[in-house]
Amino acid sequence: MFVVNSKQELGAHLAEWRHLDEHIALVATMGNLHSGHDALIKFAREHAERVVVSIFVNPTQFGASEDFDEYPRTLARDMLRLKKSAVDMVFTPDVETIYPFGLEDATTVSVPRLTENFCGASRPGHFDGVTTVVARLFALVRPDCAIFGQKDYQQQLVIRHMAMDMNLPVTVITAETVRDDDGLALSSRNQYLNESQRAVAPVLFESLSSVASELQNGRRDYDKLEEAALSKLTAAGFAVEYFSIRRAQNLAVPDRDCDELVVLAAAHLGAARLIDNVVVTI
Ligand code: PAJ
Repeated sequence: MFVVNSKQELGAHLAEWRHLDEHIALVATMGNLHSGHDALIKFAREHAERVVVSIFVNPTQFGASEDFDEYPRTLARDMLRLKKSAVDMVFTPDVETIYPFGLEDATTVSVPRLTENFCGASRPGHFDGVTTVVARLFALVRPDCAIFGQKDYQQQLVIRHMAMDMNLPVTVITAETVRDDDGLALSSRNQYLNESQRAVAPVLFESLSSVASELQNGRRDYDKLEEAALSKLTAAGFAVEYFSIRRAQNLAVPDRDCDELVVLAAAHLGAARLIDNVVVTI
C-alpha cells in the first residue's frame, strides 16, 4: 500500500496503473475510518483493479461554528486499518496540495437548488465545500469510478449531479449504509454521544424505518407521517432539524403516485448531529 501526499507521487503511481489499463476507484474520506468506510473500499474493489483512498479533513465544508477543529483526526489508526484492507494507495494531501491558490482564492464548484434544503439549509456553504473538494480530488486522481455512502443521501445526489452536469469522466456509485447492531448508522460523529444519548440514538433509524413501512403499506399522507415521526423523536430527546419524505431522485416534494421515495432526517442529540435515511421503492 503506497502512502502519498504530493501530487507528483500520486501522479506517478496512477500513470503506471493507467499504462497497464487498470481501472481506478476512489473512496474519498475525512479519515477516522470505521466499518462504513471499509464497506465502501470493499465495494470499490469490486469495480476496479486499483483502489485509492483519500484522507483529507476539508476545511471548506465546515461552517465557522462547526467542528472542524474537534473533528477526530486518527491518521495512525486509519493507516493500520487500511493496511488490513485491499487498498492500493492512500492519498493524504495537505491543504496547500488541494487548494494551491489558498482558500480565499479557491475556485468554487457549486450545485444550485439540490443544495438549498435539508443539510444545505442548516449548514450554509457546506455542499459548496464538498463539491469543491470532490471536484479537485476527481481532477487529481481522475478515477474511473468513485464510491460514496448512502448515509449522506443528499451528498451523493449532489456529487452525482455535479459529475453528470459537468460531464466528468467518472461513474459515481452509491454504497449502502453500514449500521451498528441496533441500527444506528456508523458515523465519526457518533463518538460525540455520551452513554445515555448513545442508547437513544437508534430511535432515529427506527422512526425512519417505521415511516418507510407505512409507505410500503400504502400510506400517502406524507405530512401526517412526518409530523408523527417528529413528535416521537422530540419526545425521545432529539432536537430535530428535518424529517421529510421526498422523491428519491431529486428530493422534490412527491405526489401520491411517486414510487421511489426517500425518508430522510437530521437530528441533534447533545453535541452530535446525526443524519440518516431509508429509501422506499414501491
Ligand atoms: P466522511 O464523512 O469521512 O465519509 C466518507 C464516505 O463514507 C462518504 O461517502 C460517506 O457517505 C461514507 N460513509 C460514512 N458513514 C457511512 C456508513 N455508515 N455507511 C456507508 N457509508 C458511509 O463524507 C465525507 O467524508 C466528506 O464529505 C467527503 C465526501 C470525503 C468530502 O470531503
